[in-house]
Amino acid sequence: PEPEPLKVMISGPPASGKGTQCQMIVEKFGLVHISTGDLLRAEVSSGTEIGKKARHYMDNGMLVPDEIVTDMVVPRLSQQDVREKGWILDGYPRTSSQAQSLEKMKIRPDIYILIVVPDEILIDRCVGRRMDPVTGKIYHLTNFPPENEEISARLITRPDDTLEKVSSRLETYEKNIEAILPTYQDILNKVDGNRSKELVFREIDSLLLRVRENASRTTKLA
Ligand code: AP5
Repeated sequence: PEPEPLKVMISGPPASGKGTQCQMIVEKFGLVHISTGDLLRAEVSSGTEIGKKARHYMDNGMLVPDEIVTDMVVPRLSQQDVREKGWILDGYPRTSSQAQSLEKMKIRPDIYILIVVPDEILIDRCVGRRMDPVTGKIYHLTNFPPENEEISARLITRPDDTLEKVSSRLETYEKNIEAILPTYQDILNKVDGNRSKELVFREIDSLLLRVRENASRTTKLA
């Protein structure tokens, strides 16, 4: 029998590089990237009911109520493409109550990756971050400047990337993370995110390869 597709959770403070690493993981492993931040931003920009409810929280760097986010994520996890290709969940669960919602439905990843970066670096990464609305690609004014003038001219800044809002997002993160980790203690892997994105990816890559190898060994034995 074919081994089950990979199921991955990636977590870490704002701007620790979750989105950046997810792009690289998706390219290599073909998993479906489910980012609650991206899903919510899409709802906001298309002006849906969810978007209208979420906007105020997001723009001010506060968490959107659990119920809204959970109702968005859980159905996505059971769609066909996700069941076939596997998933990487980015930005969820973010509270202990969100983790418990998944546990109740017996939705558990094979591995939980926690990216660790010092606060002062996170603040600089947020304030310098820009996004290309056409390709969705993430840039940084000094770390990863855009390739040409055309892209540079259309880059946008997220409303929650101001110094003040980043500080409150960091505080919210610190307040919640300790209550989530015990649920995933047995599959927790901390990764130093204060290195080049290629080096960070090299470590994540080898962690995922190991998980995949173990899974196929178990399948063969079964
Ligand atoms: P979300 O979009 O999840 O924001 P976040 O967790 O704050 O994470 P970020 O997107 O800011 O950062 P990232 O870790 O992806 O870093 P990136 O790769 O971009 O959530 C936004 C909002 O939505 C929340 O505040 C909340 O309101 C709501 N929300 C979402 N999920 C929710 C949930 N479950 N419950 C309730 N509310 C929810 O990198 C950052 C920058 O650094 C970039 O400029 C990048 O180019 C640069 N960079 C990346 N890697 C490196 C590196 N190795 N070296 C140097 N620079 C780097």
